Amino acid sequence: MRPMQVGMHRLLAVEALGADNWVLRLEGPFEAALPGQFCMLSLAEGWPVLLPRPFSYLDLEPGARGLATFLVKVVGPGTRALVEAPPGTPVRVTGPLGRGFPEPAAGTPEPVCIAGGVGLAPFLLWARARQRVGAAPLPLLYGGATAAAIVGQDQFPAGAQDWHLSTDDGSLGFHGNVLELYRSLAAAGRVDGRAPVLCCGPDPMMHAVARDCAEAGRPCLVSLETWMACGYGVCNGCSVGVHDRGRLAGRRWAKACVHGPVFDAAELDW
Ligand code: FES
Repeated sequence: MRPMQVGMHRLLAVEALGADNWVLRLEGPFEAALPGQFCMLSLAEGWPVLLPRPFSYLDLEPGARGLATFLVKVVGPGTRALVEAPPGTPVRVTGPLGRGFPEPAAGTPEPVCIAGGVGLAPFLLWARARQRVGAAPLPLLYGGATAAAIVGQDQFPAGAQDWHLSTDDGSLGFHGNVLELYRSLAAAGRVDGRAPVLCCGPDPMMHAVARDCAEAGRPCLVSLETWMACGYGVCNGCSVGVHDRGRLAGRRWAKACVHGPVFDAAELDW
């Protein structure tokens, strides 16, 4: 695991993506991080809530002259304060935190990625990592309620992913939810239905995807969007039920911020 850093970073820009989704761009230096790892963010001054908020890295250029971006959906006063802060505002950043997506095991098919909402964020670093090793464009399925909820595609590196979109109301892409899209693509042979699935998004979506994978005997990794207070294992605010086996032997509960947020779906007792 890479060392956690705590630092102040200058806010470079806030970019509106639509539907109250925003990209926060912060000045480095940043440590390298794995797709799925996250940071706790808060404003150094004028922070309207008690606790910082967790965000997966969207993009990351490590090093002294680097930067990091985060995908933020406004859901309350903390996220609102972050996106309304003017450029130059100091932002307190703690990270990288948690367990990210592991590299695919040698000889296994390239994973299929399934995202909903701000659950899209971890797959940009994943796309960059797979592009660096010469993998084919990753199959990336992205679902939302309406076309307005499908945001952030322009942040991704060209040619690194093969997009498949779905909307519940049919206003963009496949008409249905993202699991129905996955089943349709797999049935048509347009994605590999035996390949592992990586999933991040709202809990009901991840539950449904994980259940589908379990029934098919298909490996599935999920990145949980759990409420967090500290982000590094001291508050127990992010406990999730797990099965007492494997790397989590001896536990009935795990901390999403330390043992996750990326879990093998079979580890979770949900
Ligand atoms: Fe505090 Fe996980 S958020 S222990």
